Amino acid sequence: MRTQVGIIGAGPAGLLLSHLLHLRGIESVVLERRSREYVERRVRAGVLEQGTVDTLVEAGVGERMKREGLPHHGIELRYGGAGHRIAFERLVPGRAITVYGQQEVVKDLIAARLAAGGDVRFEVDDVAVHDIDTDRPYLTFGGERLDCDVIAGCDGFHGVSRPSIPEGVLTEYQRDYPFAWLGILAKVKPSSEELIYSRTERGFALHSMRTPEISRFYLQVAPDEDLAAWPDERIWAELRARLETVPGFTLATGEIVERGITPMRGFVAEPMQYGRLFLAGDAAHIVPPTGAKGLNLAVADVRVLTEALARLFADGSTEALDGYSTACLPRVWRAQHFSWWMTTLLHTFESDDAYARRLQTSYLDYVTSSDAAGTTLAENYVGLPYQEET
Ligand code: FAD
Ligand code: DHB
Repeated sequence: MRTQVGIIGAGPAGLLLSHLLHLRGIESVVLERRSREYVERRVRAGVLEQGTVDTLVEAGVGERMKREGLPHHGIELRYGGAGHRIAFERLVPGRAITVYGQQEVVKDLIAARLAAGGDVRFEVDDVAVHDIDTDRPYLTFGGERLDCDVIAGCDGFHGVSRPSIPEGVLTEYQRDYPFAWLGILAKVKPSSEELIYSRTERGFALHSMRTPEISRFYLQVAPDEDLAAWPDERIWAELRARLETVPGFTLATGEIVERGITPMRGFVAEPMQYGRLFLAGDAAHIVPPTGAKGLNLAVADVRVLTEALARLFADGSTEALDGYSTACLPRVWRAQHFSWWMTTLLHTFESDDAYARRLQTSYLDYVTSSDAAGTTLAENYVGLPYQEET
């Protein structure tokens, strides 16, 4: 079997790459370890940058998102007994975010690929990459062989592609945080129109949403936290304690339909390529979720990779592909910094003394009172322009 681009992983990165390549007349095969049901139900990110929304709309996969997604023009930072709005419409006019679940993006992309006759294979075991240092790389899986011109490693942080790169090629940068996020999805109308990022002495909490009937919440918890130690009543009590911190705000509660714990880590592998293997999305880098950047960064990588592959298949030129990692890394590191900054601004670090806590408050006061500082947050949050637009 043969294709032009062999793609490992049917997450947002792999599926969007396959779709964008198809629009350019380039063939691909997507190999995914999990079932279709599993990837369509996996609850993860929910905040789409303006550029992500525009990318999906321009690619013809934004219809349902435009109907069902929730455009937001601001977020609230809640601390010290008051809420402070970061007003995107004033600070970054014309740019906003859209709240639309990652699994909905995945569903829309799978439907588009299958409708166009795309080859997306689920429950594929034992994918392995071979001969990536030649022009004839290939993939093996379940006794089959797929010859390719290029392989795209879109298989997330725990995938097989990054570890297939010979030792000594990659430099890995990593920061682990001394806490995790407990995330839940609940059948309850959101108690706020906009997202609330709440910093309290008990730890951080985030109120987000998915639809007018479904809310999403996160709680800062210990890094080794056991989900079994968090029965529903404890989750709601802790969310109340961390969100009902301003006069007149009450949190509505409801049935919890999904729950999970996510470790908090920043990680970058450089370069994001070796020979004919190109890493995109979480396979190359992850961020702590506070800045809502993970999914958006995967989209930015895939845009760059699509352009570079279009050049290769148009005239055999490898110049853009050779520059793939160099083109992606400035945005990757901007997102690393922003995610680290938002995390540091809003979480409780056990190692913090009273001095560090005062610094945190001072910075929050600055971000919420100065337009210059507020714009720094706003322009990163809604997403900086893509490199090709600057
Ligand atoms: P993924 O979505 O991880 O997709 C990779 C795909 O590859 C998966 O479908 C996987 O099953 C498949 N795969 C892996 N190994 C193999 C293999 N060997 N063979 C074949 N297929 C394979 N970001 C936020 O902004 N906010 C959040 O709240 C948030 N929560 C998160 C919670 C969790 C538990 C995780 C893991 C991530 C979260 N993220 C969040 C990050 C965001 O979801 C990711 O950045 C985004 O999913 C990246 O997309 P991707 O396609 O690169 O990787
Ligand atoms: C969501 C996740 C985030 O990491 C974030 O910063 C904001 C919202 C969400 O899942 O809705």
